[in-house]
Parts: sequence; structure tokens; C-alpha cells
Amino acid sequence: MGRIIAVANQKGGVGKSTTVVNLAAYLGFRGYKVLCVDTDSQGNTTTAFGVRKKGVKLSTYDILMGKARIQEAIVETEFSNVSLLPATEALAGCELELADIENRMNRLRMQLLSCKEDYDYIFVDCPPALGTVTLNSLVACDSLIIPMLAEFFALEGLSQVVNTFKIVKNNYNPAIQIEGILFTMFDGRLNVSNDVVAEVEKYFPGKVFRTKIPRNVRISEAPSHGKPVMYYDKSSKGSEAYELLGHELLGEPLEVKKKRRGIFSFRKDKKGEFGTPND
Ligand SMILES: Nc1ncnc2c1ncn2[C@@H]1O[C@H](COP(=O)(O)OP(=O)(O)O)[C@@H](O)[C@H]1O
Ligand SMILES: [Mg+2]
Repeated sequence: MGRIIAVANQKGGVGKSTTVVNLAAYLGFRGYKVLCVDTDSQGNTTTAFGVRKKGVKLSTYDILMGKARIQEAIVETEFSNVSLLPATEALAGCELELADIENRMNRLRMQLLSCKEDYDYIFVDCPPALGTVTLNSLVACDSLIIPMLAEFFALEGLSQVVNTFKIVKNNYNPAIQIEGILFTMFDGRLNVSNDVVAEVEKYFPGKVFRTKIPRNVRISEAPSHGKPVMYYDKSSKGSEAYELLGHELLGEPLEVKKKRRGIFSFRKDKKGEFGTPND
């Protein structure tokens, strides 16, 4: 039975789509069957997998509106074990159209239930808003990854998404968990970055991924080649970071890789077993 993980933050440009694409690619490479669901009308995840939006016949829009079954709309990507439910601009009108529809919070959940068994992991890439489409993802998912920047204003954004999480947990999806808060485009040399991480760890103990995704130009170049970063430049820091995140999600040890790259939070963990910054 697949684990459904929504990747959400109402702020744009925090690395939601990047995280979905690269985490999915890594888990697929490892042999897990992965489905990515693009629920953003910008279709960044769709493009990043090299799928041309013009060629898409059925998309997340049709699924949410009940015009097609999810199995009919899923396409295979070129990347090992990764399937995609693509998004197109049609989704932009979805918020309004859903407003009049019965059971509008459960649309994605009902569709995903019918294919959950076919995958090990289902990642849902959310739009930069906390509207009906994102709510559909939160209602449908088992857990939530919140990517964020280590910036002061990002803290406010985090509390908004966590409030929405609580509303969904109390009203629609009592089993939903926070899988983890993920710092992206991270630069551990900046004091503010470490301060923000410390603040978030204080409020959400044990919920911050130890892996931090560094700012890395290869990560930002890869989508224009229609590839996840590990297929674009496997030896890049960005590719290694998403690989480590994959290990962390799977509950595998991280220590060996950590010594090679300084991309962890550099404060000692509870057992004091980790080293100094950028070791
Ligand atoms: N770790 C990173 N290093 C460099 N650029 C990044 C990184 N993560 C994301 N980006 C770039 O930042 C922009 C926003 O990322 P994206 O994943 O599209 O955010 P969101 O989906 O939250 O709007 C994209 O151009 C992406 O390529
Ligand atoms: Mg996005």
C-alpha cells in the first residue's frame, strides 16, 4: 500500500516541485514504484520530468473534476519507476469550479485510493496557495513535507501551513502526520539560516529533516533539460543532497555520506554524534 506524501507550502519558490521531482527520481532509482501528482497549474513538476504539457490529454484537472479515472491520466516518465499525473493550465480554474461541487475536499483522495496499491510512494506537489486544491492533497495524504527557506519571514509562512494542517487533521484527516520540515536552498554559513533552523527545531522537535538541501546551480538547471538532477549531474552537491533526503525518508543511515559533504544541520543531535559545520 503506497504512502501518500503531500509537499506543501503556500509560499511559491520554496522548492516544493524540486523536492517532489528529485526525491521521486531517487526513490524510483532505488526500485520503489513512485507516482508524482502535479496539482499546480504551472505544471513545473510535469515539465521537470520532460513531459510536454501540450501533449497531455488528461490531467489532474480531469481527475479532480471527475471527468476521468486516475489510471487513464497517469503517464510513465523516462525515469526509472516514476509515473506522473500531469498538470496543465486547465487546473487554474479548478478552485472556482470545485467551489460548487459536492464533496469537494475529497476529490483527490477518492481517486488516489483507487491506485494507492500500485505504488510504494505517491508524492503530491501542491500549488503555492492553501485553497481547495491544496486541501484536497492534505485530505488525501498520509503525511506532509513542508519545504521552506531558512529566512526570517519563512517562519510566518510555516505557521500558516501548520495551521492548515491542524484544521485538516481535526476535521478531515485525523491520521495525517508531518513527515518533516525541509530546509531548501540552504546556506549553513549564514547566521540567519542557523537561527531559523534552531527556531523551527524548538517548535517542532524531531520534525526537521537532518538533511538540508543546499543552494546548487545544478538543481536549478536540471528542469530545463527535463531531468531530475541525479540524471543531469549525479556528482553534484544537489543530487547528493536529494539522495541523502531519500535515505532519511527511508530511515537509512546518513553518516557515511555526511562526512563527504557538509550538507547537514551542523548542530549536534541528541546523542552528540555529529560533527562540526562543513566537516
Ligand atoms: N536547492 C536549490 N538550489 C538552487 N535552485 C533551486 C533549489 N531548489 C529549487 N531551486 C530553484 O528555485 C525555483 C523555485 O523552486 P520550485 O521547486 O519551483 O519551488 P515551488 O515549487 O515551491 O514554487 C526553481 O527555479 C528551482 O529550480
Ligand atoms: Mg511548484
